[in-house]
Amino acid sequence: MVDGRRFPAGMHPGPTTLVIFGAGGDLAWRKLVPALYNLFLDDWLPEESAVVGVDRKTLSDDAFRRHLREGVDQFSRRGRAEDASWRTFAGRISFHSMDFTTAGAGEALGTRLPPLERNWHTPATRIFYLATPPVAVPAIVERLRETGLRRGDPSVRIVVEKPYGRDLASAQALTQTLYQLFEERQIYRIDHYLGKETVQNILAFRFANALIEPIWNRRYIDHVQITVAEEVGVEHRGAYYDRAGALRDMVQNHLLQILSLVAMEPPVSFDDEEIRNKKTDVLKAIRPIDAGRVSDVAVRGQYGPGVIGGKPVPGYRQEPDVAPDTATETFAAIKFHVDNWRWQGVPFYLRTGKRLPAKASEVSVLFHPAPHQPFPESAVEQWQPNRMAIRVQPAEGILTRLQAKRPGPVMHLDPVDMVFSYEHAFRTPSPEAYETLLLDVMRGDATLFMRDDQVDAAWSVVAPMLTAWEERRPSRFPNYAAGAWGPEAADALLAKDGRRWVLPTVLEPPVTDP
Ligand code: BG6
Repeated sequence: MVDGRRFPAGMHPGPTTLVIFGAGGDLAWRKLVPALYNLFLDDWLPEESAVVGVDRKTLSDDAFRRHLREGVDQFSRRGRAEDASWRTFAGRISFHSMDFTTAGAGEALGTRLPPLERNWHTPATRIFYLATPPVAVPAIVERLRETGLRRGDPSVRIVVEKPYGRDLASAQALTQTLYQLFEERQIYRIDHYLGKETVQNILAFRFANALIEPIWNRRYIDHVQITVAEEVGVEHRGAYYDRAGALRDMVQNHLLQILSLVAMEPPVSFDDEEIRNKKTDVLKAIRPIDAGRVSDVAVRGQYGPGVIGGKPVPGYRQEPDVAPDTATETFAAIKFHVDNWRWQGVPFYLRTGKRLPAKASEVSVLFHPAPHQPFPESAVEQWQPNRMAIRVQPAEGILTRLQAKRPGPVMHLDPVDMVFSYEHAFRTPSPEAYETLLLDVMRGDATLFMRDDQVDAAWSVVAPMLTAWEERRPSRFPNYAAGAWGPEAADALLAKDGRRWVLPTVLEPPVTDP
């Protein structure tokens, strides 16, 4: 399988010890270990590797492995684990009980690791993965210092999950805490959207095709819409989500990262710093929103009870661990402008929400109408400007909507789609985002991770909304029923520019049906 993936043979990671803090939690169970197991099955996990789960629970190695296997059986894209391969994989996993808040507890972890690596041919890369809430980070950094770790040790990397702070100041404070022991090049800040194949493919699509780049600018593009819609509510994460909201949970990271990839200038090389520089340039070029005029360009919403897929679902205020009078937004729609030569005058409309009609994430690029229309009125009833849709999920792929003549004796134009579908083109299942990201950390490739200046710039972009929405309680929450496309004001945001939201293409009825 080696050559089926992004790195050519010979580019395998070297010996690696992965230490997961918070290993008893959901992330390790649902995402990290299933991803590691798939990397193992695909021969990407180095033979000389060890996984150490750290948590404050007391668990034997065997009990920990049994727990992890249940997670793999439920959540791996390959389904249930097969006995023999699971045994080999699980042999590399062990558990270390530790209370992160106990001073001195890091020493025992420090003595635990070298024996695991004793017979390896070359020194190991050690990766510390913080699958923990941000409040735990300062204590964990202290414990890591107690393991004997020196600042800036190049064989060590640290992975930090979102949420990365709750505003600019707290994100910067978090970075300063990490800098006590790590240099920037050792820090891998995860945004799992960047590990999705379609999100990475935005780069390939734009910069590997001479056809696309010449039209990717204000001359041809009218506006861009980025929709990340979720059907689920807050599930069991009410306590976290009620302090976060859609702006912090989705816009500051996933949506702005997608926007950066769509809008960035062509990179000179595929070097990780170069790609990150170009993406950061986009965030810095986003026109600052005037604190007093947030409501002109941004809309927030909260779902009330409703019906999804024929089933009644509760409103956000009725979800577990959510305050009954909460003003937290579960929907956000914002209009941004990117103030540079390429994008002057081209609005980027972003929207995301929970309890929308379906799970569908798509970037829609809407082109200007053709400059002249030579066809008779009767031919163009169904006329639409060209549109390019990058389907992030589901039905991953890229679709270009063109006009074509309907077969028959009269000239009649219909929209038709040219579709590139991952499933049909490659016939091989895409890796999960966490597989890609874990492999990249092992290889030391930071392209798909957020650098400190990117995170800061993204917080600055959303800061006016954070402040305005915190200062002013919404006048009418909930303001959309579960199962609707957000509040009416979201439609008005585009309507006042003479535009409307397009339905993600995956939810449309086939366009050529008579
Ligand atoms: C996470 C958010 O980062 O992304 C969740 O915290 C959200 O609230 C999730 O549900 C969506 O990810 P995906 O990959 O299912 O689109």
